[in-house]
Parts: sequence; C-alpha cells; structure tokens
Amino acid sequence: MKKLTYDELRNMYLDFFKSHGHKEIQNASLIPENDPTVLFTTAGMHPLVPYLLGEKHPAGTRLTDVQRCIRTGDIDEVGDTSHLTFFEMLGNWSLGDYFKKEAIQMSFEFLTKHLGIPVEQLAVTCFAGNEFIPKDEETASIWKECGLKDEQIFFTKEDNWWGPAGITGPCGPDSEMFINDLSKPACGPDCGPSCHCGKYMEIWNDVFMQYNKKADGTFEPLKQKNVDTGMGLERVLRVMNGLNDVYRTEVFSDVIAKLEKISSKTYTGNEKLFRKIADHVRAATFILGDVRGVKPSNTEQGYVLRRIIRSAIRALKQLDVNDNVLATLAEMFIEKHKKYYLELEQNKAVVLEALEKEETLFKRTLQSGLKEMEKVMARLGDNKVIDGQTAFHLYDTFGFPLEFTQEVASENGIKVDVDGFKKCFEEHQAKSRAGAEQKFKGGLADHSEQTTKYHTATHILQAVLRKYIDGNICQKGSNLTAERMRFDFSFGRKMTPEELALVEQKVNEIISADLPVKMEEMTLAEAQASGAMGLFTNKYDAEKVKVYTVGDNVSKEICGGPHVEHTGTMGHFRIVKEEASSAGVRRIKAVLE
Ligand code: SER
Repeated sequence: MKKLTYDELRNMYLDFFKSHGHKEIQNASLIPENDPTVLFTTAGMHPLVPYLLGEKHPAGTRLTDVQRCIRTGDIDEVGDTSHLTFFEMLGNWSLGDYFKKEAIQMSFEFLTKHLGIPVEQLAVTCFAGNEFIPKDEETASIWKECGLKDEQIFFTKEDNWWGPAGITGPCGPDSEMFINDLSKPACGPDCGPSCHCGKYMEIWNDVFMQYNKKADGTFEPLKQKNVDTGMGLERVLRVMNGLNDVYRTEVFSDVIAKLEKISSKTYTGNEKLFRKIADHVRAATFILGDVRGVKPSNTEQGYVLRRIIRSAIRALKQLDVNDNVLATLAEMFIEKHKKYYLELEQNKAVVLEALEKEETLFKRTLQSGLKEMEKVMARLGDNKVIDGQTAFHLYDTFGFPLEFTQEVASENGIKVDVDGFKKCFEEHQAKSRAGAEQKFKGGLADHSEQTTKYHTATHILQAVLRKYIDGNICQKGSNLTAERMRFDFSFGRKMTPEELALVEQKVNEIISADLPVKMEEMTLAEAQASGAMGLFTNKYDAEKVKVYTVGDNVSKEICGGPHVEHTGTMGHFRIVKEEASSAGVRRIKAVLE
C-alpha cells in the first residue's frame, strides 16, 4: 500500500473517476436546500436526489465529487477509532449510465491498482435478498471475476440495502467494501464484516439504486438505474498510512498535539475525550462556517450545533482545561480545510466569535448543572432513570440539551425518561424543538407534486417582491414541505399589511394567468448574461446550468428544479405570516390552497 497524504488521496480519487468520463461537480452546503426532512447533508447522493429520480443533470450522467457530510446518528459513536460526526465522502455516480459491472470494476481497479491494497485484504458484502428483492448473485459474481475468492464475499440482508434516507425515495441493494486486518484473528466461526469485532473496517459502498420506495411501503423500479457510491476519506487515509485510528491521521494529528499541550495530558489514556473534542470542534467549525451557516440555538441545526459544542466543553472540563480554547482549535481546522472550503476563511470571524460566546455562556452553568445532576443521580437508588421533569429542569435552567444529559447519565449507567422530557417540553410550548425532532427521524426531501408547486411559488414570490417592494431583495433561503413554504429574503424592515396584500395579489395574478414554465440549459456565463438570478451559484457546475423562466420573463432563475409546467395548476397563494428571520432578513410563510 502507498502512503498517501490527504491532498493526494482526494486528487487521486477525483482524477481516477475523471479519467473514466466523470465530471467533477461542486459539493453542496451542509444545510440541505429545499429539504425539510433532514437537518444536514448526510451523503454525496443527497443533493443529487432529483437527478437520481430522473431529472437531467447539467453536467451529464457520470459525476464525481467530495461531499462534506454530517451524521447526527453517529454523534454517540464518537470516541472510538473510526466514527466521526463530520466527514468527507468521496463519491461517484452513474445517472442511468453504467451499472453494477462497470461500477464494481472501477471500484476494484481504484482499490487495488491506485491505492495498492492487496486483493487478499479486501472483503465485500452483497445483498442476501428479502421477500421483495432477490439475492444479488450478479454482484457477487462480478467480484469473483475481479479476483475475489468465495471466502471474501459475504451476504447480508440488513447491511446491504441502502436507503431511502427518509420514508420514500431512491434505494437499492448495495455492496460494501472492507479492509480485512489480516493481523487480527477471527473473533469466532461467524467472524465477518457484520460482526463489528474490529477486524473489518468499512471504507466504501456501491449502491445500485434501482428502486423507488413509495409511501405505502412498496417498491417501484426507478425510471433509470443509478449507481451511488460513497467512500469515507478519513478512514481510507487511516488505512493507507498504516494507522489504527483516524485521529492519528494528518486531519487531526496537529489538533490532538495542541490539545496535549493545552491540557498537559497525553492522548494515550485520554483518547475518548480528545477524540470527542477534536471531532465536535471540527463539525461545529464546518456548520458555523458553511455557506448557509447557522448559529447555536434551541432549534433544528442550531440545536445539534449547540449540543456538540456543549459536549466538547464538558470534555475539556474533564481534562481540567479552564481557559477558552474552542476558537483556537477551530482556527487550526480552518487553516487545514480552507483550501477546499473557501467559506471557512471568509466566515472565520463568525465561527470564532460564536464558539467563544458559547464557551463563555455554557461554562457559567455547566458546573452547577453537573452538581445538580450528581445530586439527582445519587438519589435514584435502584431506579436508574432520571425523570422527564428533572431532565427538563436541567435543560431549562442549566442549558443541558437532552442528549447531553443522556450522555452524562449513561456514563453512570443511568437512563433518562425521554418521553417524560418531551411531555414537559411540549407543555412549555416549545414547538420548534418538536419540529426538529421530526427532522431527526426524517429522511430525504419530499419531491411530491405539492412541493414542486411550492418550489415554483418561491420563484414567483421572489420576482414579485423585487418588482413591487424593492429591487434589491434577494432570496436568503427557503424551506418547503408538502404543507407550506418558507421564504427568507434580504429586507431591512417589517412589511406593511398593504404590501403583503399587494404581494399576495400579484403572485395570484401570475398563477391565474396560467403561464408556462420553461426550462433551458446553458452555460453559467450565458445564464448570467440572460439576466437569470443565481442564488447559490457555487453549487452549480460551471459548464451547464438549468434556467427556469416563468411566462415571458416574469421570473428567470438558475435552478435545479423540479417545477410545475404551468402556473395555473398551483392553486391560491396565501401569506400566513411575515416575520424577522435574522438581522436584515425577513421570512414569509405561505400556503397554496
Ligand atoms: N449513499 C451511500 C452511503 O451513504 C453511498 O454513498 O453509504
């Protein structure tokens, strides 16, 4: 195996897939656009869902990129040698182009020829079949043709089906690739990739997305057969450098060294705390510094951010670090990653200030909250459950997010009554947090007919606001569900009732006129020259973009779609609320009835 640096691995992957006809696309924000059902981008396929469902991608049918991801489900796993909350995913996609054979052959070629991993160190898993979908013998036989032996090929049901990320959407059987640590003995007769004994480490997943799961639980074949792959950059870096710990790779090593200095403690012996701090600060830096960055808060992404920052602050306390250090560590991550994520440098002041503020704020209550918790836990006796009321008190008075309380409690073998907490919470009318709960459970965007209508409505609303209220208004964000739309835009004051009535009327006039919505593909330069508005231009491939025009230039925007074909199908537009979103940004909530 070749020793590789972070830069070399990144470039090697992209170059390999480019040499196989893939176009490199810009990776998307960590905060999904127009997707109300998930808080963060969790995989490279996430921003590509419309294209996996059949929309035409401007860059073609073979794509590759490096996508930043956050997996909230992994936060509790952080502390071992491989799990990360934030990670980078190397990915390649076929949108109705190649399928199993070519995908596996390319994976095999990259692993063995380019990374130089000996064939005997590989192990793969394939789908064992279930009542709906047959066993994936085809995939296994392609691996055999590549040179894998029977004993290197495993079949599972649960671990070899990917998606949908939510309740509905693209999904299919997958084939996961593992490194078998030949120096470790098998843990038993059934030792294999699924036993998680540490002998096998997953590094890559080829998903054969050929089904769409419908709301009634049945599967229909997708219009096109896609391939979606994802490889964990940090994990591969670990393997390539002969390390047994991702935190020893160059991505983390200098931050770990700095922490050793700050705490006057060694990493060895304190791994869990060091890992938690390093992981959480890196994730927080990326969330705060994102192009659509958010601040710590009590709702949605801001809540997750607050939770991980507060966990890191506690871990620092456990290492007896008393000074504020989060900003210092974040600065190191910014330096390291700014080459590929320019926004980290641009938003550096915001990131550092927010961390400093949160660290100062939480330290005021952390100590007394922990004391209170100790008292509570000591009183529990045999009943090893902290009741909901107490958990809510810890949240409300000391700023302990529920998961934070659970984390401290579980270290003492104690559980928390989550339902009781939620009940107290709801009694306190914390609706927004309940909304976030929905999102934790949720999955991919709902690309239903109704959200498509709302999507077109955001374009019309923006055009009307610019024409009738202020020509400088521009979109700052949007969030669509099948029930309503939210549209954030730059504007310095509250809108008057007359202005809102006018906007409503003008949007409805455009809808009633039943104007056609036209899509054209052009280069970004042509789109800009045509006067199209480009909201998140860094997301689009520079070569070709889609431009959606409503009527005869009522609205013209660069956008991935999908949109209605005629405005007449959209129904009646009604503004439910207009309110402040953040400084200089207003928010309109509206429905189509
Ligand atoms: N979507 C697949 C995964 O997350 C491949 O990237 O594993």
